[in-house]
Amino acid sequence: MESVYLDHNATTALDSQVLEAMLPWMHTQSGNPTSRHSYGRASRDAVEHARTQVADACGAYPSQVVFTASGTEANNFAVKGLALAKAHTLGGIELNSGLQILSSAIEHPCVSRPALAMQSLGFMPRAIAVNQHGLVDLVKLQEQLVKSTALVSAMLANNETGVIQDLAKIAELARAHGAFVHTDAVQALGKISLNFADLNVHAMTISSHKIHGPQGAAALILDKRIDIQPLLHGGGQEKGLRSGTENVAAIIGFGLACELAVKRLKDFASHTATLRDQFEQGLKVLDVTIFGSQANRLPNTSFFAIHSIEGETLVMALDRKGYAVASGSACSSDSTEPSHVLLAMGVDADTARGAVRVSFGPHNTTEQVAEFLKVLKTEIARLRQLTAIAA
Ligand SMILES: Cc1ncc(COP(=O)(O)O)c(C=O)c1O
Repeated sequence: MESVYLDHNATTALDSQVLEAMLPWMHTQSGNPTSRHSYGRASRDAVEHARTQVADACGAYPSQVVFTASGTEANNFAVKGLALAKAHTLGGIELNSGLQILSSAIEHPCVSRPALAMQSLGFMPRAIAVNQHGLVDLVKLQEQLVKSTALVSAMLANNETGVIQDLAKIAELARAHGAFVHTDAVQALGKISLNFADLNVHAMTISSHKIHGPQGAAALILDKRIDIQPLLHGGGQEKGLRSGTENVAAIIGFGLACELAVKRLKDFASHTATLRDQFEQGLKVLDVTIFGSQANRLPNTSFFAIHSIEGETLVMALDRKGYAVASGSACSSDSTEPSHVLLAMGVDADTARGAVRVSFGPHNTTEQVAEFLKVLKTEIARLRQLTAIAA
């Protein structure tokens, strides 16, 4: 039995056109982009073409694109690099002990953990509260900004709830207090229109494998006027900002995936929104809470909890019936702790433990959703009966 994949926020299958474009670069085209010979030059040209495709997909200039190996790396680079750069412009870390790094309470761990790690250098990481809809509390942010702040990092769209932040407003507040602004747009790319210039941030993270590109390529879109130090030192690739031989095939795949994502954006949004609405309509007859449904959300994402059933248990049961869904953030860890995103939204721990995420993709169909709803109802009834027997 082939499983129905309903976990597109975790990762996506490689697009066949993208695979075609990558294949020669993994096999016959073997040049290192740094080499001066024809092989090297061909690889360099291909990487630069991909840089233009990536830039075009998110309203940036090619010169602002720094390729990395993952969204995780780009987020680490942004958080550590921007915080240090700000301290540097203010006269150095020694003079600026206690500078804040503010990140929203719902960030992916690859933002919140590097922020915490900066404590050892004298920075003060602080979480920005969100309200019950999963939106950054702008009043609280403004209050927190009274203290000297090196960086504000807030994700554009949340991987669990799909809730979309008013980033331009967050950036305006942060800039007014002299802080750098970073956004993790990994979940936004390919799902909503994305424009680096309009968001008015200093740096923005995107990742290839969420848009049917390969794993192993991502980018930090960066305001290059900032004097930022790299995480990786070495041969000086990416204008000295990210040393290491470029993953040429993956970067080429990322470039094409970006171009295709923009072309398909409208269709993706309307198709997945139709499926999501059909799904949530069907959920209504069950005893469920849908998280973030009052806010502007990604079109493809539904995050909900079935009362009195563990999310983990339901995910396993659905997997056995041929449906791949997530019980929270599959890309963070295999921890069974309740979602930090839901706790930050004020959801109680018991309800949060029941959370299940469904994230639709372009190849899902209304028939699959209808069938999935039937299976979901049966599994919920079966699990409830088991719980009742055990009680
Ligand atoms: C919002 C968000 N940021 C960052 C990441 C990490 O990106 P990558 O898997 O490319 O390291 C993910 C998921 O994996 C994500 O959902």
